[in-house]
Amino acid sequence: VKNGDTVMDKTHLVDEITGHRRMRRNRKADWVRRMVQENRLTVDDLIWPIFITHGTGISEPLAAMPGVNRMSVDKAVEAVKEAADLGIPAIAPFPDIEMDLRDPTGSHILDANNLMNRFIRETKKAVPNIGLITDVALDPFTSHGHDGILRDGIIVNDETVDHVVKAAVMQADAGADIIAPSEMMDGRIGAIRRGLDAAGHQDVGIMSYATKFSSGFYGPYREAINTGGLLKGDKNSYYISPANGTEAMRDAALDVEEGADMMMIKPGLPYLDICWRIKEAFGLPTYAYQVSGEYAQIKAAAMNGWIDGDRVMMETLLCFKRAGCDGILTYFAVDVARKLGRT
Ligand code: PBG
Repeated sequence: VKNGDTVMDKTHLVDEITGHRRMRRNRKADWVRRMVQENRLTVDDLIWPIFITHGTGISEPLAAMPGVNRMSVDKAVEAVKEAADLGIPAIAPFPDIEMDLRDPTGSHILDANNLMNRFIRETKKAVPNIGLITDVALDPFTSHGHDGILRDGIIVNDETVDHVVKAAVMQADAGADIIAPSEMMDGRIGAIRRGLDAAGHQDVGIMSYATKFSSGFYGPYREAINTGGLLKGDKNSYYISPANGTEAMRDAALDVEEGADMMMIKPGLPYLDICWRIKEAFGLPTYAYQVSGEYAQIKAAAMNGWIDGDRVMMETLLCFKRAGCDGILTYFAVDVARKLGRT
């Protein structure tokens, strides 16, 4: 496109004065667009969430997340090796626990040999150069699909925190690098910090899921770890309402005070205002979780030919950077790393 209208043509409606201010000068060619580019996505921005299941030799596709497989430990470790080779700095595993090991208190989370802890140990041994960010919410381990201990219709806060702290120490013992508690109980960050320190894990960090919203975007995740069918009611008594931004900031402030090393916002794209506010307010490393439903939306539209899936994938991730995020947990991580590696 030629920038040919430098001589003001009086028949045009562009004002003589404002007509001198042309934003398009800095957009006129690829070289200048590259010069003025403010944000960039790199492989260092990617954290890859993966689903682990029991058994061996298993890599099964998930209906609502085309391109994502649920893998047994052996297969998952191979995939993590590949991710590390692509330069992805960290992964976030979520376990699909056998049904008969789930109970109302999620007691199996405290088994040092559970699927999660075994995966952590195996991965640490086989792929020592990738970061392991692990969740300590009880939902994969409970028979009712809630993130905490359910008593008389209530998710009891303090008892759940006791469980969560023990689980965090066990995961750190197994080799976890960062504990990322997603269950949204009050006081958990401080409790986990004290628990880790008392166990000699001063170097294990905490990524706070400070602002986790009660969202409809988690559907495909619940299918992946088989909690969807179990869940009674909703999580509105512990996750934040999508209507509330100021409340989210108060929740985040508590986690910062209690010693969080990093912050996370979840889901991602509908909550970019929260990403920006958290980064601005606290200045901590800040991450967004582009959750399963966000992934599914993009995939579904792309598979119908309604959007260019690759383009939208890259655009959404770049937008997280613009909104102040230091990185993104995304199921696209491996696809993106491959794509970035090629350019
Ligand atoms: C629960 C948990 C959720 C996700 C990860 N851990 C939400 C939920 O099931 O309520 C969602 C991740 C995703 O949707 O990708 N502790």
